[in-house]
Amino acid sequence: MKLEELQQMKEKMEDGYLPQWVVTDPEIYNLEQERIFSKTWLFLGHESELKEPGQFITRMMADDPILLMKNKNGEIKAFLNSCSHRGTRLCTEDFGKKKTHTCPYHGWSYNLDGELIGIVAGNKVYGEKMDKSEWGLRPVPRVESYQGMIFGNLNFNAVPLEEYLGEMKWYFDIMLGRSDGGMEVRGLPQRWVAKANWKMTSENFAADPYHVQTTHRSAVEMKLTPTDPLYASYGHQVVLSNGHGINVITSATGESANKYQGMPESMWPMFEKNLNKEQLEVFSKVTNFVGGVFPNLSFLSSCSGSEGTKHNHLNFRVWRPIAPDKVEIWVWYMIDKELPEDYKEKSYKGFLATFGAAGTLEQDDTENWARIIEASQGRMARDRKLSYNNVANYLMGFDNVEPDENFPGPGIAYPTCYTDHAARSMHKYWLELLMKESEGEG
Ligand code: FES
Ligand SMILES: [Fe+2]
Repeated sequence: MKLEELQQMKEKMEDGYLPQWVVTDPEIYNLEQERIFSKTWLFLGHESELKEPGQFITRMMADDPILLMKNKNGEIKAFLNSCSHRGTRLCTEDFGKKKTHTCPYHGWSYNLDGELIGIVAGNKVYGEKMDKSEWGLRPVPRVESYQGMIFGNLNFNAVPLEEYLGEMKWYFDIMLGRSDGGMEVRGLPQRWVAKANWKMTSENFAADPYHVQTTHRSAVEMKLTPTDPLYASYGHQVVLSNGHGINVITSATGESANKYQGMPESMWPMFEKNLNKEQLEVFSKVTNFVGGVFPNLSFLSSCSGSEGTKHNHLNFRVWRPIAPDKVEIWVWYMIDKELPEDYKEKSYKGFLATFGAAGTLEQDDTENWARIIEASQGRMARDRKLSYNNVANYLMGFDNVEPDENFPGPGIAYPTCYTDHAARSMHKYWLELLMKESEGEG
């Protein structure tokens, strides 16, 4: 794809338009794999999934299968899940605990540091020359964590994770660092494949509370959410660095009937010890945090249940692109480790009813994403002549919404969540990354 074409798209985006065909185009997809998914920090899992030495989980980073394990020193190591002999997938399980991983093909085995420690028939077949230390598993070039969230990066020269997260750390501290002992993942991440483009799913969380009243109308009808058409607009949409974004949704008055997202009062002194004044101000009023870390990690911290029995839950999700029109969705449920068991149980049930593969709200969203693909793959929608009106509309809040200087958190905060500021920022960053290599290539 020519640099001029990407530049032209960026100019369009500055004006609030995004060509519709970018959600189904194979060339764009290949560029994204090379210039975004090979170079940015991708979420792999949470430290609570690897509590003891020997525990392991298998994940995907773009198209690479990854094996994460905790070694004897308690360090988390991540490797390409591929045997160094003939390259077969080494570990075939999703999770477990073992001291050594033995390849199912010819039986080579590796320890928790990824070192090759055993070869079937060893010296008898390879002689003395083969040096086992040269045939360990290939480590993921960079693995770093923040607030228990483990990320990997295929780019050795990437900026440190904390620098990449930037202002998002302040919000992560509220969601993940408010309790002593942090958060824990409950159960396994749910996983399924959906017809969708990763940009649309990421945008839905980072930048689009506007869809809530229409898409999730059944929740209104079940009296789970208010009838007010502006209900998900109250609060602030905050544009963060590197294409990240977050919506800090409150009630219409800006105050929440459920302080600290309705969590038990016994937890409050701990929150007040772990968070600063500005963070507490935001946390005491928020009803939902919904946002995303570019490119494809999204999160939602909300309360579910009927009035008076609301339980907070936090879910993180990865939209792993597997084709221009397909994502593999991974959803983790997380909860404060310190919360009483009965609270966790009720919260988990609330999560399962609303989000995850069988959740009602989740399926509302998934249908729309599939329909975007269906309506964007035909000749008319894919026509690249920009004289056609083949663009999606990102004009909301374009020149009628100004930043709120009084918002206590970092980032550029707009005093409504019904605006396209975060979406425009995300798509502009996406285009900048796509163009980066083109410039270098001359
Ligand atoms: S491929 Fe693993 S031992 Fe041969
Ligand atoms: Fe939704």
